[in-house]
Amino acid sequence: MSEVQNIGIVGGGQVAQTIGNKMLTLGLAVMISSRDLDSDRDLGPRGKLPSVNQWASQHTAAGLKAFGGSFSQAAEFGEVVFNCTAGVGSVDALTAAGEHNLADKILVDLANPLDFSQGMPPTLAVCNTDSLGERIQAHFPQARVVKALNTVSAGVMVDPKLVTGAHDIFVAGNDVEAKEWVSHILLREWFGWERINDLGDITAARALEMYLPLWLQLFQMLQTPYFNIQVVR
Ligand SMILES: NC(=O)c1ccc[n+]([C@@H]2O[C@H](COP(=O)([O-])OP(=O)(O)OC[C@H]3O[C@@H](n4cnc5c(N)ncnc54)[C@H](OP(=O)(O)O)[C@@H]3O)[C@@H](O)[C@H]2O)c1
Repeated sequence: MSEVQNIGIVGGGQVAQTIGNKMLTLGLAVMISSRDLDSDRDLGPRGKLPSVNQWASQHTAAGLKAFGGSFSQAAEFGEVVFNCTAGVGSVDALTAAGEHNLADKILVDLANPLDFSQGMPPTLAVCNTDSLGERIQAHFPQARVVKALNTVSAGVMVDPKLVTGAHDIFVAGNDVEAKEWVSHILLREWFGWERINDLGDITAARALEMYLPLWLQLFQMLQTPYFNIQVVR
């Protein structure tokens, strides 16, 4: 794959901005996106997140290549595209992003199909015999979907050293070359991950997404999002 310069992020929330910030520090051009470019986001006790347009203008003022746009503008912009949307809305968001804008591109899917409609704790909107990753691959057959990073919190995705000691991240997908790019360039070279485990085809997204109930339980117990799995044998 030729050198990637432009990153398109479908979504404008905490994960989109965290990944976007990291990509900007690497000198890449980034477009994050939303259906509402001007509203900031209330994170409850964690404060507020800037709107997509505020995020872009703050970084542009610092001389970085940051842009805000619609879901379809971001998907068109990216040579590699990230799905950073709420899992229950991901297929709708990616449909709005446009199948043609995703065709032949690596689509890193880090979303979790958490359904908060019945309150806390959330349930999985899809599980056991299907997964969000598979649904996305089935809806967008020409996209090169790689499930990755959904098992750690946003900060840890781009800075694994936030968790001490050796710990593991996973990839799953049908396209071997796409998984290699995600493993070697995105995860190892750009984000600093050392222990990257290929779980196989996109059906392994079931297991990666079904880890979430345990992640949420551990978060409650540890009172920090900075933890991860260490695979030992
Ligand atoms: N937060 C973390 O640390 C973390 C860690 C691992 C994985 N994840 C996963 O990463 C994803 C993003 O998480 P987040 O916390 O950044 O964001 P979020 O607040 O859950 O949602 C981010 C984006 O989803 C879009 N969205 C929500 N419902 C939609 C719908 N029905 N149709 C179209 N778009 C919709 C929103 O669009 P608008 O801007 O237009 O409202 C927003 O841009 C989630 O799937 C989450 O489970 C999060």
